[in-house]
Order: sequence, then structure tokens, then C-alpha cells
Amino acid sequence: MSNDLQGKVILGDIRRVSPTLPNDFFQTIVTSPPYFGHRNYSNSDNPAEIGQESEPSQYIQNLVDIFRALRPRLKPDGLLWLNLGDTYRDKSLLGIPWRVALALQEDGWILRSDIIWYKPNAMPSSVTDRPTTDHEYVFMLAASSHYYYDADAIREPHVTFSEHSRMRGGRNHFGKAGGTPEAGKNAGNSNLHDGRWDQAFNPKGRNKRTVWEIPLSKFRETHFAVFPEKLVETCILASTREQDFVLDPFTGSGTTGVVASRLSRKFVGVELVREYQIMAQRRINDACSQLDLFSLMPPLSLVNAAV
Ligand SMILES: C[S@@+](CC[C@H](N)C(=O)[O-])C[C@H]1O[C@@H](n2cnc3c(N)ncnc32)[C@H](O)[C@@H]1O
Repeated sequence: MSNDLQGKVILGDIRRVSPTLPNDFFQTIVTSPPYFGHRNYSNSDNPAEIGQESEPSQYIQNLVDIFRALRPRLKPDGLLWLNLGDTYRDKSLLGIPWRVALALQEDGWILRSDIIWYKPNAMPSSVTDRPTTDHEYVFMLAASSHYYYDADAIREPHVTFSEHSRMRGGRNHFGKAGGTPEAGKNAGNSNLHDGRWDQAFNPKGRNKRTVWEIPLSKFRETHFAVFPEKLVETCILASTREQDFVLDPFTGSGTTGVVASRLSRKFVGVELVREYQIMAQRRINDACSQLDLFSLMPPLSLVNAAV
């Protein structure tokens, strides 16, 4: 049963589909539900569509109910990555992402991180009486305190101190011009006691920070608001191993599935709108068949040896 699901995008309302999904199965959920009061994906009054509720409280309750039903489908050490943007009404910001996050916490989820997805190429806006919004949230939520998380898989480069840096030699880290903390006398020192945190330089890079600068995706095939692949990749790498199952209950154009396949993870998606379900299934099939082609190719060393 479980392997039959691999690579499938199931058509339907996630509330109807989730009871049919296996328990203790998914290592991670990476998803972006429609935002409250934004676009209508069905192009009709489909009461099953999330985001079209008249009141924020209904939207929040719907999301709480959906993720409550999905929790047993996650492995006990699984994680949920939830991307949400905000909405203005009568000039007032509703604060929806945080209201959802706190409601999920109230419902038993452990809220482990609030990540700011900063979009350097966000659409310009016509507002003149407030700053233009160029960020959204990604909440990292755990079903239990013992969850799988691979910090090494998503480390980022250390910030190096150049000769022009104001911090040059400031704490006597390196002692010579052009030296960097990670190459200096404390290289590889992971001794965190005694408050010496600033001397701990992991050679694989520094721990991932909570502001992720990721440009908006260029994929514009009908569906709006698609995930950038880099954003999904970061979530998947941090929370799964190869061959683990990833779920996206609001699949849209299928970006989570495409990235999961590329990273040798297995994927199941759910999508309400037929047009998007077909598009997502096609993109995921293409990603899987490209991978199959690669796996059939002889290793490069053999190709080179033949010429
Ligand atoms: C913001 S989009 C997801 C975009 C996706 N992350 C991507 O990269 O393309 C949200 C999707 O949720 C779908 N949706 C809305 N209500 C749903 C429901 N009750 N069950 C399943 N999918 C739903 C919409 O049709 C829409 O395609």
C-alpha cells in the first residue's frame, strides 16, 4: 500500500483524503496552504477550498483541524514546515501567520522556529503609506520533542572578517591580516563551555540562521504563489533522509514533489483543483523519469575510459 503512494498527487479535499493516508508514515510535511482572503484557486465557490472563509477565525480553525488530522500520519520524530503569508483588511494587518502558529501550538504542536523568508525580488507595490512587504513566514513545528533534524545538511558559510571589517582583530581571534576565524587558531574548536561560543567554528559552516534570503520562483505555468525550489530543498534536507516520505497536503503545481524526487525522497501530494493536480503529477513524473534516466547512465569514469 505505502509504495503504491510514491509519487502520487491525490485529487481531493485534504480533509477527506487525510483519513485514508497511512499512520506513522511521513517524515516531514512541507506545505503552503492558500493564504486567507487571497486568490481563489478553484475559480468557483468551492466550499472545500481553504482561504476563502469569511472570517480569519474560521480559516485558523480549518488549518488547526487539518494539521491535527495529519499529525498521526507523521512519524513520531517528524516535522511540519508551514509557509504562510499575511493579509490586510481595512488597512489593518491581520497577523494571520502568527495567529495560526499560536493556535497550532495551543493544539499541541511544538513551535520550534519562525523563519523569515525574505524575497529580494518581491513584486513592487503601489502602497505609499507603509513599507512594501517582502517577507513571509515558514514555521517549523514538531509533533514531539525528539524529532529528526540534520543541522549539517543545511549549514551556511561562516561570516568572514575581512581586513576592512570593523571587527578586524577585535577579539584577538586570529592575529594576522586577512585571517579568518574559521582558519585561525580556533578552527574546528567546538568547545562551547565557558561562554566561548564565538570561538566554535564548525568546519562544515555555521548553523542555519532564521532569515532565509530566497528569490521568488520563475516558474509561472498558470499557478501563482509557487514555492521556490531552494526553500523546499532546505526544509527537506534538514528533516529527512533519502527514501523518506514527504507530504504536501496543498500541492499546487507540485514543487515539493519535484524537489523531493530530485533529492531521492519519496513524495505524496494532495490537491483540490483538478487542473493543478494534473500539472503537479506531470511535473513530478518528469522529475522521476529524469532521475531514472540518470540512474541508467554509466558512471562518467566509464564514459571517459571509452573515448
Ligand atoms: C499556495 S498554493 C500551493 C502552491 C505550491 N506550494 C507550489 O509550489 O505550487 C495552495 C494550493 O492548495 C489548494 N487547496 C485549497 N484548498 C484545498 C483543500 N481543501 N485540499 C487540498 N488542496 C487545497 C489550492 O488549489 C492551491 O493549489
